[in-house]
Amino acid sequence: MPIAAPTFPAPLQSTLSLSKLSQFDLTPSIGTEFSKETQISALLSNPVAIRDLSILIAQRGVVFFRDQDLTTEQQKIFIDKLGRESGRPAESSFHIHPLTPTSSELGDEVLKIVPAFGFRDMLEQPSNLPRASGGWHSDITFEPFPSNYAALKLTTIPKVGGDTLWASGYEAYDRLSPALQQFLATLTATHSGEAFKKVKSINIRSPRGHPENAGDDLLAVHPVIRTNPVTGWKSLYVNKAFTKRINELSLDESDHLLSYLFAHINQNHDLQVRFKWKEGSLAVWDNRSTFHTVTNDYGKENREGNRVISIGERPYYDPNSISRREALRDGAGSDLA
Ligand SMILES: [Fe+2]
Repeated sequence: MPIAAPTFPAPLQSTLSLSKLSQFDLTPSIGTEFSKETQISALLSNPVAIRDLSILIAQRGVVFFRDQDLTTEQQKIFIDKLGRESGRPAESSFHIHPLTPTSSELGDEVLKIVPAFGFRDMLEQPSNLPRASGGWHSDITFEPFPSNYAALKLTTIPKVGGDTLWASGYEAYDRLSPALQQFLATLTATHSGEAFKKVKSINIRSPRGHPENAGDDLLAVHPVIRTNPVTGWKSLYVNKAFTKRINELSLDESDHLLSYLFAHINQNHDLQVRFKWKEGSLAVWDNRSTFHTVTNDYGKENREGNRVISIGERPYYDPNSISRREALRDGAGSDLA
């Protein structure tokens, strides 16, 4: 009996209900910012706006909002609705970080963002600071069902510094030669969060937002090129923090190819956007098609915030999907104003 070809969801179509709201693109490739008149708290009961926002975030990679009155509880409601309105699997919910203590101050679903472990100590010997480019990642790709959307609101902001950068996985894909694009689409990679196990004092939480995000191995295999189900566009899907090995290649080949792809992401500043936080700023990004990193340049000042991550679908590659540039050329991205 012949095996049926896999079927993939059709991309979502926006109603353009957000186009009347004041907004501007921060770069051609990635990042859109709304003016402070748009309050997410006022959109929570508007499913059409939430659905259109889920599409806009998936298209633009990251979307910023200023002077938000959003509470942490509303931040959870918002990220949950983004996933539901854009068709996430029914079993997917909020991610619970493997290291979240059982009596977490803000509840299991909210991760308190604080300065990186050991960062203060490293400041004493600046020559020991890792390269700024070393922090690029997509959140929690060591999970079999990783994140679709994430929202971060900082509560304590340094006087200067502490910016966050995002990079577009769509644009990273589009800039590769057709021959390399085709080759990468045949490959899978192993993603690992095993570094978290070094924090021995804390038990690994399980399950973590999906029944298959369970156990304590913190390993997952994903396609190297991933199709975003909301846009239907292809994205590069390897990141320096968690992607350890391209499975179909020798270790030597894998190390060299991954090294090239990580540099491709962090050395092309014209596929990146840099965001300066202010009080009330909210960033919402699509973890399927972007990478991000903090800037550890704020010395001994404090930088804290609350991050909520939702779980999406198991990553897949649809050979019939198109790239972002192809979509824009064809006019399929006409709501990217
Ligand atoms: Fe992150």
